[in-house]
Amino acid sequence: MSLANEMHDTIIALVDGHRGILAADESSGTIAKRFAAVGLESSEEGRRSYRSMLLSTKGLGEHIAGVILFEETLSQKNDNGTPLPEVAAEQGIVPGIKVDKGKGPLPGAPGDLITYGLDGLAERLETYKAQGARFAKWREVYPISHHNPTRLGLRANAEMLARYAAVCQSVGIVPIVEPEVLLDGSHSIERSAQVNEQVWHSVFHALHLHGVALEHMLLKPSMVTPGKESPKASPEQIAELTLRMLKRTVPAAVPSINFLSGGQTPEEATANLNAINQLRVNSPWQLSFSYARALQEPALKAWSGNPGNAPIAQEIFLKRARLNQLAMLGDYQASMEA
Ligand code: 13P
Repeated sequence: MSLANEMHDTIIALVDGHRGILAADESSGTIAKRFAAVGLESSEEGRRSYRSMLLSTKGLGEHIAGVILFEETLSQKNDNGTPLPEVAAEQGIVPGIKVDKGKGPLPGAPGDLITYGLDGLAERLETYKAQGARFAKWREVYPISHHNPTRLGLRANAEMLARYAAVCQSVGIVPIVEPEVLLDGSHSIERSAQVNEQVWHSVFHALHLHGVALEHMLLKPSMVTPGKESPKASPEQIAELTLRMLKRTVPAAVPSINFLSGGQTPEEATANLNAINQLRVNSPWQLSFSYARALQEPALKAWSGNPGNAPIAQEIFLKRARLNQLAMLGDYQASMEA
């Protein structure tokens, strides 16, 4: 099969039936923070057991089309010895892999950040592919301040995302392009709209320069929201500005936009996705989710490292996945949380 056909098939599998993507690709540092929040120490066995519990949730494949895994998870197995990527695949969930190596300061642009991990990426991708991964994820991070992101920050981050995406497509892996504009700060929703528009514009400019096939990628953006320390905006206002800026910058060839949750509460992330889909008239893309915290938080809390809690944790987890699927249809109501 040609690489283009392979990627086409992966896109079909990821973009069907109003399903979303589970981000379960927390790096060792991030998962340690999530575990600490429920009083757990992070160990390899704990991470295996937790992620195995999530992926073996019965019926998950009805709401979730793909899962982003962390490198370690690719070679871990469930209690019966089945590799975790296979556990996902058996549920009709396509396994994917986070391939960036974290972020640090961008020299020459105080306050901006840049992500590492391009060296040897093609070789790593071949290994991940042999382990079952069919798509990848790379995240660039944009803090907002009155002078960030700078022009250099916009350019350098866009260039990294485009180079990563081009390498993925050269080996038949579908890239998820994730420019995360951070929620941190006290900026207004208008400032967030302005920054997201600049970010998306620069990213698609770079993707075009690098010859990335937009049909064979997914975009994972932030929603346009006010900063965490500002008064909240309504779902309708968030939906209106998010769609307006996406329409200005994201070509129709992109099959699906899968939002990150970025620190929104699980209920907010669902309500906002619902409002986006209710307002979606004339939007060419599927508008879906690729949440980590907003899908996992309540389930992790219920599980708290005790295998006896797995059934209730899975029930809570499945419910969040189902409510977000309803949000993709614009059919979610806050009363369903009860
Ligand atoms: P959150 O949904 O928790 O923001 O995580 C999404 C993600 O993959 C961050 O890279």
